[in-house]
Amino acid sequence: MANNLLKGKRGIIFGALDENSIAWKTALKVKEEGGSFTLTNAPIAMRMGKINELAAACNAEVIPADATSEQDLTNLFSKSVEILGGKLDFVLHSIGMSPNVRKGRPYGDMNYEWFLKTLDISGVSFHKVLQTAEKLDSMNEWGSILALTYIAAQRTYPDYSDMAQAKAVLESIARSYGYRFGKLKKVRVNTISQSPTKTTAGAGISGFDVFFDYAQMMSPLGNASSEDCASYIVSMFSDFTRMVTMQNLMHDGGFSSTGITEDLIQRLTK
Ligand SMILES: NC(=O)c1ccc[n+]([C@@H]2O[C@H](COP(=O)([O-])OP(=O)(O)OC[C@H]3O[C@@H](n4cnc5c(N)ncnc54)[C@H](O)[C@@H]3O)[C@@H](O)[C@H]2O)c1
Repeated sequence: MANNLLKGKRGIIFGALDENSIAWKTALKVKEEGGSFTLTNAPIAMRMGKINELAAACNAEVIPADATSEQDLTNLFSKSVEILGGKLDFVLHSIGMSPNVRKGRPYGDMNYEWFLKTLDISGVSFHKVLQTAEKLDSMNEWGSILALTYIAAQRTYPDYSDMAQAKAVLESIARSYGYRFGKLKKVRVNTISQSPTKTTAGAGISGFDVFFDYAQMMSPLGNASSEDCASYIVSMFSDFTRMVTMQNLMHDGGFSSTGITEDLIQRLTK
């Protein structure tokens, strides 16, 4: 059911790798709601993924950019404004990667070069996106910039490893830059803390299926799906949420406020 919530709005969507990606579902929903956008991903992901399929379905251009490269981001933002015919109203940062997680390094035996890479790709890149948007004056007033995060920034999940630190950095950047961009341009900056979701990045965390089931049991509404997340993102890009900024928004079916559930008690009762 489309309501034209994003009619006339322009933006950039990072991170659509395949049809399971949260960014993929978001692109389809933003299109359905009347928004236009460019799609971007790291050049290497572009070769592995299927972004061109999505681009065709959304009538969107694809501009490769490594989100850690200021040069790539400058090219991305300036080309997007040119192609879309005006300044931007929304940006989705849907990016996460940890070489330590990917290569199974235990938390007590971190490779620090990789650790810094995790922080750069999954955390600092959000600052680079925001700084590029500011320097190029690419955002319209009341624009909305979002990044996706996970509750491991606040609570420990052993297998989430150095991604927990990256998400803490990401959420902190949303507060600091949200203040700056709000004052400068009335642009809002938030993070959405999403339930465990079956995607390439999600499945990369070992034990994922167990904590997916655990979160399902611990959430009165159940886990939020990637489609639900896409709808929430649309609402955050729309004019109905103009005064929301500098927040870490829980999109988790109630998980973060739940102590224990009957389901779990039953499961643990001997
Ligand atoms: N899947 C989950 O359980 C879950 C839960 C909460 C939050 N998130 C977050 O949602 C976001 C999207 O992840 P997803 O679950 O859709 O998985 P995904 O694997 O589909 O998306 C991750 C994306 O990051 C991109 N990326 C990696 N390195 C990059 C770089 N250097 N430059 C640009 N892009 C790069 C990948 O190519 C990929 O498209 C991530 O921030 C993730 O941490 C996921």
